[in-house]
Amino acid sequence: MTRSLLSSVLVWGVLLSAVSPLPGCAQEQDSSSSPLTFTQPDSAVTKDVAYVKTPQRVVERMLEMANVSDDDVVYDLGSGDGRFVITAAQQFGARGVGIEIDPELVRTARTKARLAGVSDQVTFWEGNLFDVDLHDASVVTLYLNPELNLRLRPKLLLQLEPGDRVVSHDAGMGAWTPDRTERLAGSKVYLWTIPDVVPDTLVRQ
Ligand SMILES: C[S@@+](CC[C@H](N)C(=O)[O-])C[C@H]1O[C@@H](n2cnc3c(N)ncnc32)[C@H](O)[C@@H]1O
Repeated sequence: MTRSLLSSVLVWGVLLSAVSPLPGCAQEQDSSSSPLTFTQPDSAVTKDVAYVKTPQRVVERMLEMANVSDDDVVYDLGSGDGRFVITAAQQFGARGVGIEIDPELVRTARTKARLAGVSDQVTFWEGNLFDVDLHDASVVTLYLNPELNLRLRPKLLLQLEPGDRVVSHDAGMGAWTPDRTERLAGSKVYLWTIPDVVPDTLVRQ
């Protein structure tokens, strides 16, 4: 192989490796995602559930179902790249808090919030979602699994106020019957409102 052929092979190799995902790396599958690239999630962090994004139109529909407005404080437990909280701020005028155990995702969410111009409305905390005090929240968004939702149910019912809302992507809450469910874009979404009187049976583990 001549020197010039070898160098063009090397140049193309570098260019292709920059655009092709490495085996095992998560890919951006959501067409609404920013064309900017962000650091991959940290595979060394011990998570209760893996990182999978809620499609942007499902995020928007869930916030609509929860009737989010500029009076609300939206908490996303396991906030990933921050899309629920950033969308709540940008499109609904709410304030928001994202709690995420993966430091790389927390950094990504903060960068996305800055680019979206909502840094003054949102906060991203690195930490365990089970340690968070929810008294300041008026809406909680979830994309976890049925078992984690059940573990969270007493905290949601005891720390939120009557009339506050909980929305969940693809996972129910056992015996706590949702006010509403919808199917869209291959997802099932659930809405609950905190009742005036919380039944004992729903707060016992
Ligand atoms: C299915 S993803 C949902 C991400 C985002 N809420 C969305 O819907 O696009 C679940 C997220 O929870 C995070 N996570 C898992 N266990 C956690 C824990 N114990 N505390 C906080 N975050 C956690 C994962 O890193 C991941 O980002």
